Amino acid sequence: MSKKNNETQPEKNSGTAGRTAGETSKLQKQDTGKRRDFLKIAVGSGIGVCAVGAPICAAARLVTAPVFAESAAGKFYTVAALDTLSETPQKFFITDDKEDAWMKMPNQKIGSLFLRKSGDEVQAFHSLCPHAGCMIQSGVKKNPKTGSEEPLFYCPCHAAHFGLDGKRLDGVSPRDMDTLETKVENGKVLVKFQNFAFGTAKK
Ligand code: FES
Repeated sequence: MSKKNNETQPEKNSGTAGRTAGETSKLQKQDTGKRRDFLKIAVGSGIGVCAVGAPICAAARLVTAPVFAESAAGKFYTVAALDTLSETPQKFFITDDKEDAWMKMPNQKIGSLFLRKSGDEVQAFHSLCPHAGCMIQSGVKKNPKTGSEEPLFYCPCHAAHFGLDGKRLDGVSPRDMDTLETKVENGKVLVKFQNFAFGTAKK
């Protein structure tokens, strides 16, 4: 049998029978090198997945957390001085620290609301439309019920209109604007901010 046949046979059998000591040593070095290369690729791939996956997952949490995680209970935030409010709605942003599995971000906007005063009553409305969550606006619009131009709330996505008391005037929203609980302490208006489900008749 030729030397060439002796060299190829052990590779087919994946064993060491028939190899010289030098050949075995050479093959062992090759195997060790292959294992080292495999480990490098595996570790590198793992780091790559973490590096790419973490921000995606973190972003997903950031998008969904305010809507779903905080809807359960809500929390009171100091929003405005009582004497700065009037019948004209004013929009305010709620800020709080955000935290997920990877990072903590202080002082982030987590939502917004409208505040207005009607007589002695302070009214707070969530700024997201109950239909599908678009941002409700306030301004002078044609009242679909009376035909007159007047201050209203309206949703530009599907042309829904709400009165300044948050009641539906027309459109596809399944309920009135979502009211938020308020209280006044030391001249400051505090609002219990929480999120609600979209597209349902009951908030
Ligand atoms: S999201 Fe407001 S009317 Fe559709």
